[in-house]
Amino acid sequence: MSGGSAFRDGLLEGKVAFVAGGTSGINLGIAKRFASLGAHVAVCGRDPDKAVRAAEAIGHHAMGLSADVRDYAAIRGALEQVSDRFGPLDIVVAGAAGNFLAPALGMSANAFKTVVDIDLLGTFNTFRASHDLLAKPASLIAITAGQAEQAMALQVHACAAKAGVNQVIRTLAIEWGPDVRVNGISPGPIDGTEGMARLAPNPALRQASEHRIPLKRWGEIDEIAEAAVFLSSPSAAYITGTILDVDGGSSVGDAGRMDIAKGLV
Ligand code: COA
Ligand code: NAP
Repeated sequence: MSGGSAFRDGLLEGKVAFVAGGTSGINLGIAKRFASLGAHVAVCGRDPDKAVRAAEAIGHHAMGLSADVRDYAAIRGALEQVSDRFGPLDIVVAGAAGNFLAPALGMSANAFKTVVDIDLLGTFNTFRASHDLLAKPASLIAITAGQAEQAMALQVHACAAKAGVNQVIRTLAIEWGPDVRVNGISPGPIDGTEGMARLAPNPALRQASEHRIPLKRWGEIDEIAEAAVFLSSPSAAYITGTILDVDGGSSVGDAGRMDIAKGLV
C-alpha cells in the first residue's frame, strides 16, 4: 500500500464482520484486512465455489457463503448462519454490485433493473436483514461510487443505483442511531479490480483516467480497506451518515485541466 497503515494489531479482536460481495476485489480486500486485525469474518457472493476460495484466502476460520443480495430470504439466511456461529455482528459491509458499459438505448428494462436490484435493493436487503442480528454498537458500511453524484454516460443504471445507495446510507443513519452507525465509502478507480477491467478496458483509457485524478494514479484495494477499518473503529464513533471519498480527489474536480495552467505559470 502506498501510504502504510496507522492501525494497531488486534484492533478488531473478537469483532464479527459480514461482507456482502466479499468474495473478490475491493470487498475481499476489506474482509482480509478485518481478519488481519483479529475479526471473525464471513463473506458472501452468488458463486459458492468462489465464496469457499475467498474464505480460504482470508484464513482465520473465515466463512464463505452463497447468497444473492437480491433475494431477501437468502441474504437473511446467510446473516443468521454467521450470527449463529460467531455471535452478534459488529460490522456489516454491503459491497455487492454489478456494472457494464451500455448506452441507455442499448439497455433493456431488465438490464437497468438488474444493476439497480444488485446495488440498491441489495444494499437495503443486506442492512435490513442484519438489523436484529447486530451488536451494539455496530458499524454498517455501503460501498458506493462517484457515479452517485457525477452522471456518467453509458452507466445510467449504476448512476441511478448508487445515488439510491447514498440515500439509503443517509436515511438509515437517521433511523438507526444511536446504536448503529451507517456510512459509505466511495472509491475512485481501483487497480486490479473487475470494476475497472469493465470501465477502462485498455491502457489509453486508464491513462486518460489517471490524468484527471488530482493524485495522478488509480487507488489500491488496501487503501479502501484502510477506510473501512477506520469507519469500523472507535476513532469513527461520532461519524454516521457520511460518505467517505477515497478517490485521490476525483470527486473534487478534473485535474486534467491543470495542463492548461502549465502554460500559464
Ligand atoms: N450491455 C447491455 N445489456 C447487458 C449487458 C451489456 N454489456 N450485460 C448484461 N446485460 C443485460 C442482459 O442482456 C439482461 O437483459 P435482458 O434480459 O433484457 O436480455 C440483463 O442485463 C441481465 O443480465 P444477466 O446476465 O441475466 O444478469 P445476471 O444477474 O446474471 O448478472 C450482471 C448481472 C449483468 C451485472 C453481470 O455483469 C454480473 O454478474 N456482474 C457482477 C460483477 C461486476 O459487475 N463487477 C463490477 C462491479 S462494479
Ligand atoms: P467485483 O470484484 O466484481 O466484486 C463484486 C462482488 O459482488 C463479488 O464478490 C460478486 O461475487 C458479488 N456479487 C455480484 N452480484 C451479486 C449478487 N447479486 N449477490 C451477491 N453477491 C454479488 O467488484 P469490484 O470492482 O471489486 O467492486 C466492489 C465494490 O466497489 C462494488 O460495490 C463497486 O460498485 C464498488 N466500486 C468499485 C470501483 C472500482 O474501481 N473497482 C470504484 C468505485 C466503486 P459473485 O459474482 O460470486 O456473486
